[in-house]
Amino acid sequence: MKLLIDDANVNAIRRLIDLYPIDGVTTNPTILARTGGNPVETLKEIRSVIGQERLLFVQAIPLDAEGMIRDARAIVHLLGKTTVVKVPAIPEGIKAIRELKGEGIRTCGTVVYTPMQAFLAAKAGASYVAPYVNRIDNMGYDGISVTEQIHDILTVHHMDTQVLAASFKNSRQVLTLCAYGIGSATCAPDVIDGFIRNRAIDAAAEDFLSDFAKLVGEHVSMADLLS
Ligand code: E4P
Repeated sequence: MKLLIDDANVNAIRRLIDLYPIDGVTTNPTILARTGGNPVETLKEIRSVIGQERLLFVQAIPLDAEGMIRDARAIVHLLGKTTVVKVPAIPEGIKAIRELKGEGIRTCGTVVYTPMQAFLAAKAGASYVAPYVNRIDNMGYDGISVTEQIHDILTVHHMDTQVLAASFKNSRQVLTLCAYGIGSATCAPDVIDGFIRNRAIDAAAEDFLSDFAKLVGEHVSMADLLS
């Protein structure tokens, strides 16, 4: 499963990229607005932090196909070929996805709430479809099973589209979809940190350190002993 950071805070992205095997970054207009900075400068900085090999997802702003296509061309021109354009999977968006597929621009059908909406985006040629797990849960439906059903539809029809599950609020949601075999997940920094943040884990690691210190003294590593 590809793991992406759903955030535009450059310091948070830099820290997570340094620590974890991260495949890319996803943004949306709300995430960019949260930074308070110039969105173009923020995106250029994110691209320079993550390098050209990682994926960067950037959303087209207009809600009409012509405007989405114009944004998509400009976004890929600025940020390079490993940039995927997020296109809201509304009727005009499905039209834009089909056109952009013809131009060789990779898209992600976003704001996906239903399996057949995802199917339409995939059939139009989207490389990814992004169901919003937690937002679907908040509507009283089951975001996990909607996402699993989308994954099944794409698989059974041999579609060349991957699920990019989004809108997570906790690691349990990510775990369930990871075990199911979905292709990619994008998570806010606190959700990624939550995969591994646990007092029992820290205590176990610290116990090893203090036991060894009792034997050889404080701050002595194997490298120190072997040098
Ligand atoms: C990512 O592609 C989505 O835009 C994002 O995950 C939505 O998350 P939210 O529901 O926390 O806003």
